This record gives sequence, structure tokens and C-alpha cells, in this order.
Amino acid sequence: KIIVLDFGSQYNQLITRRIRDFGIYSELKSHKLTAAEIKKMHPKGIIFSGGPNSVYDKGAFTVDQDIYKLGIPILGICYGMQLMSYNLGGKVEGADDSEYGRADIEVTDDNAALFKGLPKKQYVWMSHGDRVTKAPDGFKVVATSKNCPIAAIADDQRKIYGLQFHTEVRNTEYGLDILKRFAFDVCGAKANWSMDDFIDMQVEHIRKEVGDKKVILGLSGGVDSSVTAVLLHKAIGDQLTCIFVDHGLLRKNEADQVMNALNRDLGVNIIKVDASKRFLGKLKGVTDPEKKRKIIGAEFVNVFHEEAQKIKDAEFLAQGTLYTDVIESGTDTAKTIKSHHNVGGLPKKLGFKLIEPLRSLFKDETRELGEKLGIPHELVWRQPFPGPGLGIRVIGEITPEKLQIVRDSDAILREEIAKAGLDQKIWQYFTVLPGIRSVGVMGDNRTYDYAVCIRAVTSIDGMTADFAKIPWDVLQKISVRIVNEVDHVNRILYDVTSKPPSTIEYE
Ligand code: XMP
Repeated sequence: KIIVLDFGSQYNQLITRRIRDFGIYSELKSHKLTAAEIKKMHPKGIIFSGGPNSVYDKGAFTVDQDIYKLGIPILGICYGMQLMSYNLGGKVEGADDSEYGRADIEVTDDNAALFKGLPKKQYVWMSHGDRVTKAPDGFKVVATSKNCPIAAIADDQRKIYGLQFHTEVRNTEYGLDILKRFAFDVCGAKANWSMDDFIDMQVEHIRKEVGDKKVILGLSGGVDSSVTAVLLHKAIGDQLTCIFVDHGLLRKNEADQVMNALNRDLGVNIIKVDASKRFLGKLKGVTDPEKKRKIIGAEFVNVFHEEAQKIKDAEFLAQGTLYTDVIESGTDTAKTIKSHHNVGGLPKKLGFKLIEPLRSLFKDETRELGEKLGIPHELVWRQPFPGPGLGIRVIGEITPEKLQIVRDSDAILREEIAKAGLDQKIWQYFTVLPGIRSVGVMGDNRTYDYAVCIRAVTSIDGMTADFAKIPWDVLQKISVRIVNEVDHVNRILYDVTSKPPSTIEYE
């Protein structure tokens, strides 16, 4: 394996991800590890990540100086390169202008191990304030750029390398090739790691940590909590109890699907709490979107808390936190970009110890893991679904009748999108009840009924989105079916706005 020491860059976990994609196990570790602790892990190589500090900052992150004597190959990226240069006797200085964005570099050494066989001129992604102005003794400069004369350094003797640019982002032309040369050629790592090994490792780790204690988990039916549940079940069986709060705002058949897949077929211990009456009661008469969201969130915590207290001597709370949730909420090294509100508020309040076995994974890796664990394909690949559920897809006051309309029309939409083979192409698709009524004619009769809106978007991460261009014939089928099969609907609208300026959800 190759370990990445964390100095707080937003990209640090991306490095581990790229290396795992090569078939080599990689994980992010604290820069506070001592050389002795690292030695015990037997890594084939060590990567120093980038980070927001300057090596001259008070309290700037550093490493145990004995790391350089371990004889394990080291690659420093950005701050990592500056730190190793500073530690080993080179010079680091603040540049007049920080450099951010694309830069052209030239490889100046024919034998540079990390650039072997790659074009001499290539473009890279730079993002730094300081730069190395003198390489430490024993190092040669192997690449330069206009703004950064020392863009890459190498000490082939000690196998220590530094790159001022980020190899892990797509905007570096040969970034993956450079990382591969470090991992395979310099470190001699072999591509023999797979998701099965991850499962074995986590199972062992969870068993060790939990011992004979009990664990509870808040199951939402989403991909992340489901995969976490099945992974924990594999490790500790019935020491795990999942609490599945059905707030009555789930999609059609969703609760049954989750129960069938996880409880009936995979044997996961689940307590399903039907709290729909309670939620609807609290939401009665409430029309303000933020108020609705707050009520649903708070009630969820209440129900969960009540159920959790019934489970005697549970010591741990498991959560399906992914890497993207971790980085957005800030870590002990990375700056907080935005706080992530999910069940994250629970542990502090309830005093559990946390278990988050997916913390190092990205969404697509989590899906792969889920399939390996035997969770049905449909569940693993389901589209994102907001915590407040259909509650924010009924605009204004939520009533059982309106929920029924959204639930039924949404089920038809999903069925037809799947039939048309579009379900993996469109990122998210659902129906919304905007609450307007209009005049229609059915048979010989005048109707005055609801309009249902179809919302479908393509996106990569939900931060921005384009409205999906569903073919007219598919839309027509959906429209006819919803009007015919769902009571109180006489008009279908298609939302053609992107995000921004709209959001994906309506409330
Ligand atoms: P918006 O509407 O902000 O949505 O464009 C972006 C993505 O986030 C999902 N979403 C949520 N997910 N809890 C969640 O777990 C929430 O409260 C929530 N609100 C929005 C939304 O479905 C879309 O994928």
C-alpha cells in the first residue's frame, strides 16, 4: 500500500482515490504519525499531500524528521514538496503572485524517473503561494515553468521526489502517468488490490473496534446508509441494530424495498418505525419551506433518539459518511467549505462513539462496494433523494392527498424512464406538486384539478445541473399515464430551468 499524509489540501483524498484506481491500496493518514508508526504499516511509498499552509506559518503542519531516513520512497506534492525542501535544507520563498491554474512545464532532465517516456512539454495544474527557490543538497531540478523555475525535483538515491503542481486533478495533462511512475516504478507497488480486500480489511477493523459491544445505525434507505449497514452486518451480525424511521415522506414502495433487500434477504437487523402520523401532525398547516425542513429534521432526531434509548448498552453509532461529506464539513487539517447536515448532529447529542467505515470512499466506490456486498443493483444505483423526502416536493402545506399524488406520479415517471433506458443517464428525476389547480376537460366534463411538474436534471455532483432533454415521445407517455392513472391531476408541466438559477428541488 501507499499512504498519503494529510496536510489539508482539498485534493488529498483524490490522491488516494487515483492510487486505488491503479489497483494499489491507499489511504489518507495524519501527518502526525511518527516514523516508527509508519514503518510498522510497511507502506511501499509515502505521499505528502498539498495544504493551505506556508512552511513558515506558525504551527504549520510538519512531519517526524526520521521519515526521511526510513528508506521508503516519498513524493511531495505542492505543500508536500515545499515541506520536504524546507526540512532537507533547501529554500522556500513566498512568490510575489500566487499561481493558480494552468501552467506549461518543461521536463529538463532526460532521466527523470517520474516523467519517463512522457513529452518534454506538458501542461499542469498549479495552485500555490510559496515556491521552492533552492533544491536541497542531493536533489536535481527535473522540470521548470515560467513562474516556477523549480517545478519538480528528484533525489534518485534516496528516492525522494517533489512536484509543485497537482498530479491528482484532471487538469494536469499527464498527472496519472506521473503518479503511476511513482507508484509502480519508484515504489515497486503491484496492482493486486480490489474492493474485496477493502471489505476484508474493514470487517477486521470493525470487529476489533467494536468487540462485543452493540452498534446502532440510522437507516435512511439511501445508498450510503444501506451499504454501511450491510458492511457492519457482515462484520458483527446481530450486534448491529438499524433504526429505519419511516416519516411517511418516502417514495412509493420504498420502505418495503429497503426492508426486503436488507432485512429479509440479507438478514440485517432492522427496527422499522412507522412515524408518518407523527410527522404529518407536526407539519399540519406549515407552508414555509425552511420551517418544513426544520420540523422534519428535528422530528427525525427525536424519533431516532427515542428508539435508540430502547436498545440497551449500545455504545457505537455507525454512519454512512463518505469522503465528500467529510471534506465539505472540514477535517482537522482541511478548511471548512460548508457544514454538512445529515445525521451528523446526532452523536454529540446522544453520546455515542462513531463508526464511519466509508469515510475514505467516493460515491462510485461506495456503489461498487454495495454490489460486492450483495445489495440489489436498483438499490445501489438509486438516484439521490433528499432527507426531507417528498415533503419538499409538495409545495406549501403537506396533506395525505397531495403526498399520494406526488408518490403515484413519481412512481410512473420512474417506471417510464427506466423502460426508456434513461435511468442511468439522467442524474435525478422526480415529480413535484406545485399546488396550482387549473381547468381541464375529461370526457364531457369540466375538471378543476392539480398540475404535476416533471423535474429531471443531469449533473455530476448536484452543485450545478442542466435540465434533462427527455425525448418528446417518452414525455408524452409519462404525461398520458399520470393524467389517466393518478386521481386529481389534469395537467403535466415540464421544468426547463437549469441550476443555477433554479435549484434541483423546489423547496
Ligand atoms: P438543490 O435543490 O439544493 O439540491 O439543488 C441539490 C441536491 O441535494 C439534494 N438535497 C438534499 N439531500 N438532504 C439531502 O440528503 C437534504 O435536505 C437535501 N436537499 C436537497 C437534492 O435532491 C439534490 O440532489
